[in-house]
Amino acid sequence: MKNTQETAQFRYAEEIDMGNSGNTPELLSSMIARGSCRSFTGQEVSPELINLLCAAALAAPTKSDLQQRDIILVRDADAKAKLISLVETQSWVSKAPNIAVFCGNNSRQRKIHEMREHEFANDHLDAFFNAAVDAGIALSAFVTAAEVLGLGCCPISAVRNEAAVVSELLGLPDYIFPVAGLAFGHPVAEAPAISMRLPLSATVHEDRYSATGVEDVITTYDRQRAALQPYDNQREKAKFGSTDNYCWSEDKSRQYALPERQGFGEFVRNKGFKLS
Ligand SMILES: Cc1cc2nc3c(=O)[nH]c(=O)nc-3n(C[C@H](O)[C@H](O)[C@H](O)COP(=O)(O)O)c2cc1C
Repeated sequence: MKNTQETAQFRYAEEIDMGNSGNTPELLSSMIARGSCRSFTGQEVSPELINLLCAAALAAPTKSDLQQRDIILVRDADAKAKLISLVETQSWVSKAPNIAVFCGNNSRQRKIHEMREHEFANDHLDAFFNAAVDAGIALSAFVTAAEVLGLGCCPISAVRNEAAVVSELLGLPDYIFPVAGLAFGHPVAEAPAISMRLPLSATVHEDRYSATGVEDVITTYDRQRAALQPYDNQREKAKFGSTDNYCWSEDKSRQYALPERQGFGEFVRNKGFKLS
């Protein structure tokens, strides 16, 4: 088993001075060694433990204390089956014992304005953005809490592929929108696979953003990652062919060479948001 220093070095493919990482608190070690889980035992997480995770998640920072995020626990068997059918390209989701959907919620804020008879004078892109960020922060906190307890999680942005249908299924009114689903449960594997990341030396900046040498950084990362964690499959071979040099940047650029969720802006506008 790797210690935290070794885990970080593997993940970022560079040595990082983290001080005396022999004393790293368990939470931080868990965060550095974490990985998404897509394979679960059938055992459901108990309602009490889910309450604990929700309490941890919703204690996370929230923009201006506005608390513009909610969690929908999808427990009803029919609703769960419908949600799973909406993300059927991701077959692993059907075996997830627990599914939640993290939503941005700007509806409550608008209700408060009605109640207190103050104009809502910030009806622009920021209203959507703040709620989306709050939901993402809560999702991240939930995942961190679950993973430190040994549970496995994987977010599901695919719920936004059919945002209007998911919204209908979950009864989301105007100004409330799904940000991501989350599958969670007891993992089958003992330890998650650690997926390599771009080095901190390229993604953490001092004082000013710098993109100096970014192409070299990507090429090096591609090479290191392909050597240690090669992709099992090449994406969209029929369209792009196959290559001996398949790597992260090839995979990510193939992914975003194809249109995805083009109707999402319209969905958000239909929810009432002005995105100007
Ligand atoms: C907002 C968000 C949405 C995601 N959606 C999906 C998804 O729909 N399907 C999936 O398999 N993984 C999804 N993931 C997981 C990422 O693919 C995963 O975090 C990434 O590949 C890095 O792997 P790791 O989490 O194991 O380090 C999502 C992650 C985030 C943060």
